[in-house]
Parts: sequence; structure tokens; C-alpha cells
Amino acid sequence: MAMNVQRFIDNAIEEIRRDVKGRAIIGLSGGVDSSVCAMLAHRAIGDRLVPVYVDSGLMRQHESDRIEELFKDIGLVRVNAHERFLDALKGVDDPEKKRMIVGETFIRVFEEEARKIGGGCLMQGTIYPDRIESEGGIKAHHNVGGLPSCMEFQIIVEPLRDLYKDEVREVARALGLPLEISERMPYPGPGLSVRIVGDVTREKLDVVRKANAIVEEEIMKFSPWQAFAALLGKATGVKGDNRVYGWVVAVRAVTSRDAMTAEAMEIPWENLRIISSRITGEIPSVARVVYDLTPKPPGTIEFE
Ligand code: XMP
Repeated sequence: MAMNVQRFIDNAIEEIRRDVKGRAIIGLSGGVDSSVCAMLAHRAIGDRLVPVYVDSGLMRQHESDRIEELFKDIGLVRVNAHERFLDALKGVDDPEKKRMIVGETFIRVFEEEARKIGGGCLMQGTIYPDRIESEGGIKAHHNVGGLPSCMEFQIIVEPLRDLYKDEVREVARALGLPLEISERMPYPGPGLSVRIVGDVTREKLDVVRKANAIVEEEIMKFSPWQAFAALLGKATGVKGDNRVYGWVVAVRAVTSRDAMTAEAMEIPWENLRIISSRITGEIPSVARVVYDLTPKPPGTIEFE
């Protein structure tokens, strides 16, 4: 059923004005859902909304600066929490533990900000599939944005709760958000921490972040569902006259309809070759680049 976008926007603004008393806070990640929710709320209640961006240090190259730039007009508060996330993740190599730690740390940082504004209302960009997935218990761990009931909010407002993703993208376009937001590629809440196999260190984050930027630069033109780099571990290579023990970077690009299943994308050999030589050339500590051919199932889209 086609949605009337303008009517949705008007109703959502009315609902937010009705439900939010005093100030409200929202965790804005730069993903399309939280961005749309924040823009609607800003239209509805203006400066009474405090959008908070938790800069975890697990984001892509230049991503945090870009988000700050895009949302400075609606009063975005950027909280630098790099050290906190790194400390919390130190020595942890279990993928689900990493997810829990990132989620927990996010919540703690966010709670501190909420306390500062003394907000009684929490806004969330929860969409319809999130609710279904959480109710069914299938993917609850995926929603780092899902905040626990222990937070001291009296009211939770979720204006996108009945929308599907493509409808949210439509609303984003109607609100005038740029394509980089409305068409944003899915990016996992735990960010680069699930694109490093094993424990997370600052050095590994730097390597995977740079490699990821190269992959996005070279592959986005093929319109993948997702494309990214992951760090697998170390292996032998040769650079100049020396044998070196360097990082192995995996390149992943998939097509998919809904992330439940996925196919490895057929990228022309020439483009893969360029990616490989750019990654080993521009990041000296990388010895090898591999392309992941695995569909989902049996693989997953992310490596962890
Ligand atoms: P997998 O790796 O399970 O991923 O095939 C399916 C989709 O979900 C994303 N993903 C996550 N998103 N928190 C998120 O918000 C997570 O912990 C998480 N793990 C995977 C993944 O990028 C893909 O789009």
C-alpha cells in the first residue's frame, strides 16, 4: 500500500508535539532511521530536542565529522568516547561479547548525556521490522540503538514504528535529507568492531578503516547492498626485498534484498585488482587482500 508521505510527516509532527512534554533526547547515529526521526522531532519541537551522537571510534573514515556537519543546524551534541570503547573492548575476542560491550558502553555514555539535559522523553527511530525482530527474539542483539528499560525516561516516542525501510527512505527524501543519508548503506551498530576478527586494537581499527574507505571508493559504483573491508589476522607476504608478516584484509561485497540472505557480488577482476594494489600500496602493514565469495547462508554478511 502506497504511503502518503506528506500526510505521514504532518501526523508524525503532530504526534510528537502532543507526546513530548519538556525536552527530549535522541541517539542519532547518522543512519537513515535515527536521522529521519531527529529531523521530524526538530520540526516538531525545535530546540527542545537534543540529538546526541556518540562517537565510538568504531565509525568509518570521516564519518563522524560528516555527521556532525550535516546535523549541526539541529544542535547535534557529539560526544567523543573513543578511549572508553577501546578500554571496554580490550582483549575481548568473542563476537557476541563485543556486541554487548559496544551496546552497553553506548548506553552508559548516552545515559550520562541524558542526565545532563534532565530529559523526561526519549525518542527512537525504531521501525516496524525492528519491532517484529525484537518480539521474535531473532535479531534483538542487532539493535544497539535499543535502550534498556533501566533508563529513567517516562516517555518513549517512536514516530517511525509502523514504517518499512523503503518508506523511511521516502520520508528522508521528502524532508530534504541528502542522498548520503536517505540511501545510506546499512552499517552495523557495533561498527568496525565486528569487522575485525578477534580483539580490537587501535592499530587494527586504523588498518580496517583505511581499507574500508578504499573498498567503498572502488565498489560503491556497482551499487552493492553492502561493501566493506574486514581484518582477518596476519600472514606472510613480501614487500621490497623482505618477507613481512602483515595483515590480511578481506573484501566483501554482497547483493541482497533484506540481509536475510545474500550473494557475493560479481565485481570485475580489474576492479578487484585495483582494490588489492591500492590496499597493499596505501597501507604498508597489509600483506594480503582476499575477496570473500561466500553467500549467506552459510556465511553471514559481516565477519563476526
Ligand atoms: P549478518 O552479518 O548477520 O548481518 O548477515 C545482517 C545485516 O545486519 C547487519 N548487522 C548488524 N547491525 N548491529 C546492527 O545494527 C549488529 O550487531 C549487526 N550485525 C550485523 C549487517 O551489517 C547486515 O546488514
